This record gives sequence, C-alpha cells and structure tokens, in this order.
Amino acid sequence: MPCWWVLLACTALAPIAVAQQALFQLTGETFTLAGVPYFAPPTPVSQFGSGALYEIARQLGVDDAPKRLVPFSVMPSAETEFADSHLESTLESWRAKDDVWSEAFLNGLYVAYNGSHASPTSLVTANMQAQYAMRFLLHSANQSIDVAMRKELPAGPYLLDLSSGNIFEVYRLYNDEQQSFLYGTIPNPSGGYDMLSAKIPGAATESIGVPSRLYFTPTAEQPLAGLRFAVKDIYDVEGLRTGCGNRAYWELYPPRNQTAPAVQRLLDGGLVLVGKTKSSQFANGEVATDDWVDLHAPYNPRGDGYQDGSSSSTGSGTAEAAYPWLDYAIGSDTGGSMRGPAGVNGVFGNRPSHGAVSLDDVMPLSPPLDTAGIFARDAVMWATAGHWWYQNFTSFPGFPKKLLFPVDFFGSSYLAEPPSAGTAGAVFNAFISKLEAFLGITRTEMNLTNMWTQSSLFAAHGSLSEMLRTTYPTLITMDQIKLLAKPFMADYAAANGGRRPFIDPAPLTRWEYGLSLPEDAYTEGIANKTTFMDWFASEVVVGGDSTSCSESILLYPQSSGYTNYRNAYVGPPGTPFGFSAGRVAVLAETPDMVVPVGEVAYNSTITGVIEYLPVTLSFIAAKGCVSPP
Ligand SMILES: *[C@@H]1O[C@H](CO)[C@@H](O)[C@H](O)[C@H]1NC(C)=O
Ligand SMILES: *[C@@H]1O[C@H](CO)[C@@H](O)[C@H](O)[C@H]1NC(C)=O
Ligand SMILES: *[C@@H]1O[C@H](CO)[C@@H](O)[C@H](O)[C@H]1NC(C)=O
Ligand SMILES: *[C@@H]1O[C@H](CO)[C@@H](O)[C@H](O)[C@H]1NC(C)=O
Ligand SMILES: *[C@@H]1O[C@H](CO)[C@@H](O)[C@H](O)[C@H]1NC(C)=O
Ligand SMILES: *[C@@H]1O[C@H](CO)[C@@H](O)[C@H](O)[C@H]1NC(C)=O
Ligand SMILES: *[C@@H]1O[C@H](CO)[C@@H](O)[C@H](O)[C@H]1NC(C)=O
Repeated sequence: MPCWWVLLACTALAPIAVAQQALFQLTGETFTLAGVPYFAPPTPVSQFGSGALYEIARQLGVDDAPKRLVPFSVMPSAETEFADSHLESTLESWRAKDDVWSEAFLNGLYVAYNGSHASPTSLVTANMQAQYAMRFLLHSANQSIDVAMRKELPAGPYLLDLSSGNIFEVYRLYNDEQQSFLYGTIPNPSGGYDMLSAKIPGAATESIGVPSRLYFTPTAEQPLAGLRFAVKDIYDVEGLRTGCGNRAYWELYPPRNQTAPAVQRLLDGGLVLVGKTKSSQFANGEVATDDWVDLHAPYNPRGDGYQDGSSSSTGSGTAEAAYPWLDYAIGSDTGGSMRGPAGVNGVFGNRPSHGAVSLDDVMPLSPPLDTAGIFARDAVMWATAGHWWYQNFTSFPGFPKKLLFPVDFFGSSYLAEPPSAGTAGAVFNAFISKLEAFLGITRTEMNLTNMWTQSSLFAAHGSLSEMLRTTYPTLITMDQIKLLAKPFMADYAAANGGRRPFIDPAPLTRWEYGLSLPEDAYTEGIANKTTFMDWFASEVVVGGDSTSCSESILLYPQSSGYTNYRNAYVGPPGTPFGFSAGRVAVLAETPDMVVPVGEVAYNSTITGVIEYLPVTLSFIAAKGCVSPP
C-alpha cells in the first residue's frame, strides 16, 4: 500500500474548526485532459468505498506519484464475459455520440455489471489495456473484492477524488466566441441552477460547460434527455438572476426562487440547461452595435462575422447558429424577436400560435402579443422540441391544401420571370417549386393589401397601413410601462436614494412614446388587432379540417441576404410604426416559422472578398397550429 494512500484513508486529521468550515466552499475543479478543458462540479454524484479505492491504488502502483484526482470511465454492461470486442463496440458508439468523453478517460475503467448472471468476468486483455493506456480496470461484480460504487452511475467520463472516493461528473468547457451568452449554468443540489464558476484558462470570453451526452438516455417520459439548450435571459430560472439586458435590473433583483413553467416543461422533457443568453434590452428591438449600450451585441457568425444578429433573441439565435455543441436555444417573439434572428443567422426559429406555452415568470413586453419560440439547426429536432413544448396542441396527419404567395410581401425583385440567378428571388423560387411538387399543388398568387381593400372592412377602418400603423407600438409600450418600467423605476429609486436606472436608447424612446398616448389608445389597439385577426382567420389563412390544422400556408420572405454591418451607424432608434409581413402573425396570433432555404453572395466591405448570407422563408399557418406535421 503506498504511503500516500495511508494518509488519505486515515481520517485521523485534526477536525477543522466549525467556523473555518463554514467559510470554506469548494467551487469545483477545472482541468485539462489531452489538451481539452473540463470542469468537475463540486457536488459528488457517487463514491467508491475503501475496497475499490484500495484496489485502484494497488493497480496504479506504489511508485506512481500520488495524484488526488484521476479521470476514468464508467461502462455499464450486461455481458457475463466482458471482452475486448464489447469494449471496442461500446467505444465506437461513444465516439459517435459524445463530444465530452475522450479516450483519455480510459485512464481507468469501471465496468458496471447490470445483468443478472451470478459471476460475470472481465476478459479485457492486457494488450487492449496497454493500447488505451488504461491504468486501472474494475469490474463491479468481481466476487473476490467489494468494488461496487455507493450508487451506480450512468455511462460516461468521471473524475475520481482518491482522497475521499468521491466521484464527480465532468463538463467539457467551450468558448463563447460569439459573446452570445451572459454565463454558463450548472444544476445545484437544491434543485435550481448556479452560474458556472469555471473558465477555460486564458480564455478571453465566457466559458460554457456541457455535461457528457452519455449520462442521459431518452425515454418516453424524457424524450429530449441529454439534449442541451440555452435560455434567453428574460425567463426566470431558480437560483439565477434575470437581467433582461439591463445592468441595473440585473443588479437590483435577487436570484429567482422559481423556474418559469415554459423552461420547466423543457427540463421535464430531459433537456439540459447550459446557460443564459443575451437579450436586447427588455426584449425591445436594438440594432448592433450602437443601440446596445448596456450589453455588447452578440456576433452573427454568418458572412464576414460582422453583420447584425437581429434582436431581441440575439444571444439565442447567434449561439444556435454558431455552436455545434448546443442543440437548442429558446427565445421570445413579440414583434419579430425570434424570426429576425432566425433569418439573419440562418437557423430554424419560430413564433408559435399565441398562448402555446405559459409565459408566467417571463419578462413581459406585451402579454397579448408575447410568445415563446425555439431555435434549432435541424428541422426534425426543431419539430420534436416544438411538439414537446407546445403540448396543448393536437398533431394532424395531413398537409395544407393551398400555398398562398402574397405578391405584396414578395415585392417586385422576386417577381421577375424568372428571377435573376444568384438572387434571393431565385432561391425562393427554387424552394417554392420544390414545395409545390412535394404538396402536389401550385402557389396561389394573392395580394393581402388588396384583399383587405376589396373587403367590406376597408370602408369602416381604412387601409391596413392606416388601421395598424400604431397598433403594435401602442400595445407594447403601454403594457411594458405598466408591467415593467414603472415598478422597476420605483424599486430602483427606493434602493438608490431616488436615482433613475440607466435605460438603453431603444426602450427609452419607445416608453416615451407610450407615455404620450391617451388612456383609451390601448383598447383601440386591441380592437384593431382583433379586427385584423378575425378577418385573417376567416378570409386569408383559414383553419383546416380533421386532416390538416390549416387550410393553407402563407409564405413570405424572412431574410434575403441583405447586409447590415454592425460597424455602421444607423441613427437613433425610433418607434416601430407600420404594418408589414412580419406583423401578420403578431396581430393574427398565428404561428410563423422561419426556414433557411439557401444563401446569396455579397462582396464584404470588411473582408474584401465574396461572402454568403442566409436566405430564409417564413411559413404562416392558421392560429392554433403548432407546425406543419
Ligand atoms: C446494461 O447496460 C447496457 C449498456 O449501457 C444497456 O444497454 C442495458 O440496457 C443495461 N441493462 C439494464 C438492465 O439496465
Ligand atoms: C477481481 O479482483 C481480483 C483482485 O484484485 C483480480 O485479481 C481479478 O482480476 C478481478 N477479476 C475481475 C473479473 O475483474
Ligand atoms: C419568491 O420570490 C418572490 C419575489 O421576490 C417572493 O415574493 C416570494 O415570497 C418568494 N417565495 C419563496 C418561497 O421564497
Ligand atoms: C396546457 O394547458 C393546461 C390547462 O389549460 C395548463 O395548465 C398548462 O400550463 C398548459 N401547458 C403549457 C405547457 O402551457
Ligand atoms: C397589392 O395591392 C395594393 C392595393 O391594391 C396595390 O397598391 C399594390 O400595388 C399591389 N401590389 C402588387 C405587388 O401587386
Ligand atoms: C385603430 O384604427 C383606426 C382606423 O381604423 C386608427 O385611426 C387608429 O389610429 C388605430 N389605433 C390603434 C391604437 O391601433
Ligand atoms: C470586392 O470589393 C473590393 C473593393 O472593396 C474589390 O477590390 C474586389 O475586386 C471586389 N471583389 C469582387 C469579386 O467583386
């Protein structure tokens, strides 16, 4: 037995004074293994008893310099004779599945026998052990010694503390190069989350930690187990502050004591929360870079890397576009905050039907318009998460039977016959032709503005641009002043000797507009919205039958590959007046799903060479529909 082992095993050390213990708190360990940075959270997930520790020390060898922390792998197996071939086939699936585990974790291997046969054996050869530089190998069901863990663990990489036998999970640390995150998160023992304390040594940006995917197995109850997601920092998460893109707001309020039901629903499905992403301030529209005073705008990874990432779910959209280690990011959409970032960052992203998921414990912009959306890079994964999240909606077996092509939203550049090659118009046309072939229908050209003008409502309400010019800014400003600005200002003043907090120019301009409105503007706004919503549902995109949720899909261009350089000064922010294609779903409460369909070239003034920006199409279906089946 090595001398250090005696020291470690004997707990005869003088007890630490209680007061000192209270001051002392472990925050986890940061380490690198084969050049990859990792973090082990401070709370152990299991423990080896003295039998196992003795055996590990024996195998590590008397002459081995004592290292307190050793990496190893847990590999459950029901094989009665666990041989080289079993090891190899498991490793093959691990390599394909996980970005956290690496062969360096084969420093030690614990084969966790989970079968029922009485005396299983390990037949891993010395050759195989040498090939992987394996320094210890334990078989949990070894009859001759007691090496079982206190609590059996799922497969994957772990860190063992030889001094206590404690076993820790490992998180791989990634750089947040796009500055999309505020911080990474890890679960804490009380059921909430903590800010990740770790940082990649020498990193210039935040580090985000992701647990091994091998720890999780999807089940019927948890179909999304092990998939990672990030949350826009307007959703409350127990244990974390909610900052809403404002430093004073972040500072003023304590960490939240409950998790928003929308986030909880995703956690219940097995998703793993890895961090909080930046929102433009109070989810109002801000253009990079000059509008982003309190926070620095996240970087859109497309093109030259210096294009605006759109807002307000900027952090979630840019992170989803940039990071292969992140599966999903959630955001919100009141007037385009999901769809804009999905468009310019080139990812799938949606605004669901209004009311699809609870927005309790989420910062309000305007409750009649606020919705919760999800970004994904893969259409099937996007649909899977959406169906889980928007649980209160029914799935339908068939597709809509009409494809509405509003000429007023596509505009003249897309309507040339045929659109010039290499333009967004050509990309849209090519995609829509494929969609027509898939659905077995041809597009129905229509003109939404003109349909309204021809309707009986036109005489009473004026044109759409007249009726809806102030509707959106009226609702969002009057709601946010009442629900957020006023209580926040009062709380801040009370805590800071009557001072006002700093507010970015964009929300401030909007709030000033809201303060100038008469009391009855709000009711008028809701009435105009309802007039439009009812007309749209009965005359434009009509609900379907038992086979399809929606009779038709209405398409419009979401992003067309236009540049919006983040180093351009665009002038002071204004009030978001007006009616446009993007307002349809907002006012009609319908879903609006952004789908990347291609890219177009541009000559970058930053890099001086040809770069590419995404082209995306929006799909609007009837209110109450989740997504196309
Ligand atoms: C035992 O572990 C293997 C490998 O992880 C797994 O496929 C199998 O389902 C497990 N069996 C039981 C009974 O848990
Ligand atoms: C069981 O433990 C003994 C004692 O360390 C060891 O010699 C033997 O190889 C182990 N057997 C298996 C199947 O791991
Ligand atoms: C949670 O926080 C809210 C707001 O700060 C507070 O009113 C409430 O009492 C807290 N609840 C618990 C259980 O601590
Ligand atoms: C689904 O509807 C029920 C009943 O109205 C509600 O309690 C629940 O919060 C809804 N689920 C979500 C995820 O919004
Ligand atoms: C759509 O209809 C409006 C109102 O009638 C008209 O002003 C506009 O030119 C039409 N747009 C197109 C592209 O035809
Ligand atoms: C409502 O619509 C009327 C025209 O029908 C318009 O004059 C008014 O400004 C609108 N108000 C709001 C708040 O939308
Ligand atoms: C791109 O623009 C630069 C000037 O900024 C010019 O020198 C270059 O030739 C252009 N490249 C192409 C392919 O047009």
